[in-house]
Amino acid sequence: RLGLKTTIFGKTIQYLESTDSTQKVAHQLAQEGCPDGTLVIAEEQTNGRGRLARNWHSPKYTGIWMSLVLRPKLPPAKAPQFTLIAAVAVARAIEDICEISPDIKWPNDLLLNGKKITGILTELQADSDKINAIIMGIGMNVNQKEQDFPKELHNNATSLAIETGKEISRSELVKRILENLEKYYLLYLEKGFAPLKLLWESYAVSLGKDIIARTISGNISGKALGITEEGVLKIEDQNGQIHKIYSADIEMK
Ligand code: BTN
Repeated sequence: RLGLKTTIFGKTIQYLESTDSTQKVAHQLAQEGCPDGTLVIAEEQTNGRGRLARNWHSPKYTGIWMSLVLRPKLPPAKAPQFTLIAAVAVARAIEDICEISPDIKWPNDLLLNGKKITGILTELQADSDKINAIIMGIGMNVNQKEQDFPKELHNNATSLAIETGKEISRSELVKRILENLEKYYLLYLEKGFAPLKLLWESYAVSLGKDIIARTISGNISGKALGITEEGVLKIEDQNGQIHKIYSADIEMK
């Protein structure tokens, strides 16, 4: 229906008018053994989930709320790289369709003018040594107007329509996201993470800057040096000590 030029991604599509969370539906399908590349996409989510147990505002017909099931034959330690691959694929899709270039804030936020345009939630179903499924959730603010955002999001979130002054075709964007994702996923399987790390770094805003990483075990401030081959963020504190950050919220100073 989308006229997709992909061979794996989006070959099986579950389209829903309304659901609580596409992420939840995709987890269920993965457990039932759905094929690699299965897409769950909804017009509205009544209980969209963000990282760190936050909720994700997903009003009807205005955004892209989708979750993709991936089944790479890889160890679970590789999973964080998929968030970065998704961020690059989505950033490129925004450039292709809207001719504006978003910034990526580690690990998964896409920003335009410092405000969030897309969030990515990568979740894992795995044994100790092998991935059963990666559930890659993508939430993109596309055609919302300023007044469609709840007050508390006004300073932090924006939409492609607000930033470009144009209504954007959601189906064109979904198509491009899936095509880019598949391209980068296959590149990753063939050549490893190195080429994607370079691409990711070309969009990253915080590299070389002073940041604060808020982690569950406390805050670390210092200079963002880059990401490792695993997709983990490296920060150098004022004593020259290097910290590896696996999960955090980043604030730029
Ligand atoms: C974040 O930045 O916190 C991640 C947001 C992820 C939102 C998407 S929307 C589609 C999928 N279903 C959900 O419930 N969440 C993700």
